[in-house]
Amino acid sequence: MSQTEGQHSSDQPPAVILTVTAGSISGKTFVMDSNTTFLFGRGRACDARITEDEQVSRHHFIIEANPPEAVLRDLGSLNGTYLNDKKQGGRDKNASPEDAATVKHPAVPIRDGDQIRVGKTTISVTVREAVRCAKSSKVAEPLLTHATLPEEQLRSMLFSDPGTSDGSKISVPGCTILEEVGRGPYGSVYKAARNNEARPVAVKVLIARGEVSERARTLFAKEMEIASRLTHPNLVRILDFGIAEALFFIVSEYCSGGSLASKMRERGGTLSYGDIQPWIHHGLEALADAHRHKFVHGDIKPSNILLQQRAGGLVAKLSDMGLMRGFQKLGLAGLSLLQNDPTRILFQPRELFCGDREVSPASDVWSFAATLYHALTGAHPYPFDGQRESVDVVLGEEPIPLEARGVALPAHLQSMFARALDPDPSKRFHDAGEMLDCFHTE
Ligand SMILES: Nc1ncnc2c1ncn2[C@@H]1O[C@H](COP(=O)(O)OP(=O)(O)O)[C@@H](O)[C@H]1O
Ligand SMILES: [Mg+2]
Repeated sequence: MSQTEGQHSSDQPPAVILTVTAGSISGKTFVMDSNTTFLFGRGRACDARITEDEQVSRHHFIIEANPPEAVLRDLGSLNGTYLNDKKQGGRDKNASPEDAATVKHPAVPIRDGDQIRVGKTTISVTVREAVRCAKSSKVAEPLLTHATLPEEQLRSMLFSDPGTSDGSKISVPGCTILEEVGRGPYGSVYKAARNNEARPVAVKVLIARGEVSERARTLFAKEMEIASRLTHPNLVRILDFGIAEALFFIVSEYCSGGSLASKMRERGGTLSYGDIQPWIHHGLEALADAHRHKFVHGDIKPSNILLQQRAGGLVAKLSDMGLMRGFQKLGLAGLSLLQNDPTRILFQPRELFCGDREVSPASDVWSFAATLYHALTGAHPYPFDGQRESVDVVLGEEPIPLEARGVALPAHLQSMFARALDPDPSKRFHDAGEMLDCFHTE
């Protein structure tokens, strides 16, 4: 997001532009021209920070934009957020602050011409639509293939109840779909046989939410092309990928041992340090290699640490390298990320919700440590209670040390976790290589 004087010209990308027309920061303009968030409140992390208005709560409201669309959500503020004079959120007159904090408020769409008001501040919304070229009637030449079903049918198939979808209707050249193995927020993953290879492969089919521009397709392909060049034994190898209209296919190595998430479920919710010790090493090796190649993962979480049976035991492999980052950045993840993929925030560091929101090697370090923390405790570094808005918790609370969750580890590992989970990225390990060095020093 950028603050500008707000010039408009026809060759600019779609944007949601917020202009403050009244209050202490009147005259400021915030331009949301990519998939991003905007925070309003008294808190230090806020993009629009109002310090001298008692009606404003610390984290008052959030806007998520996937331009030209955007939604606004009150974050459980005391006085509510007025959208065109209609109150959103806020505390019921008779409710205690504790009760009010547990009420979740829905995201409401915001449109061109809307007025947002909190206390003395008024913000007007301008939506700049994309300049659209006439749509060619020719179907874009898929890089890999296209499915045999119309998009709507595919969409309902990919998002229907797991187990009810029929993967045999998806055709990927050279691949025979065998069975569905899992669901993610944007599609399904199938086990498949490829050509005459003995080893099975995984075929992931994603559907973008919303329209996909030619530019987004090209940039996404470029990103996947770079990711597929990363070859490390602890990285799920991308074998092929393709894009057809709004469909994205990724063919990768198949991991038969489940994921860290399924292992946790199998073992009743948590794993011991002894269980995960080799996987910490594997994950850090793969991540350090990616960071050396100036590539960041952006979506490390238990379901993206897959396990593969090898002679010496289960080996951990990082999957989905760079995938969601590209998908989100290009606006393919739709609105609202917080609603479509609500568990993602549990593994994301604070800096992705404020400031420049850039994914960095240090943010991967945080996510990796948070994933291990979850495996060991069943809990998360930030004290989510399922009630308060998770963004408000991430921005307003401090991570709970691992030892306070009853996990006793040698001192050097405790300090490794504390450093990796520091909310301030500059105090963290700079990258996975640095964390790996610490992991190995006793
Ligand atoms: N390469 C793979 N090999 C085996 N199983 C996989 C593979 N990739 C994904 N899966 C399974 O499919 C599920 C859905 O994956 P995905 O679409 O990436 O969503 P998420 O990572 O959010 O769970 C995963 O939880 C995992 O169990
Ligand atoms: Mg995944």
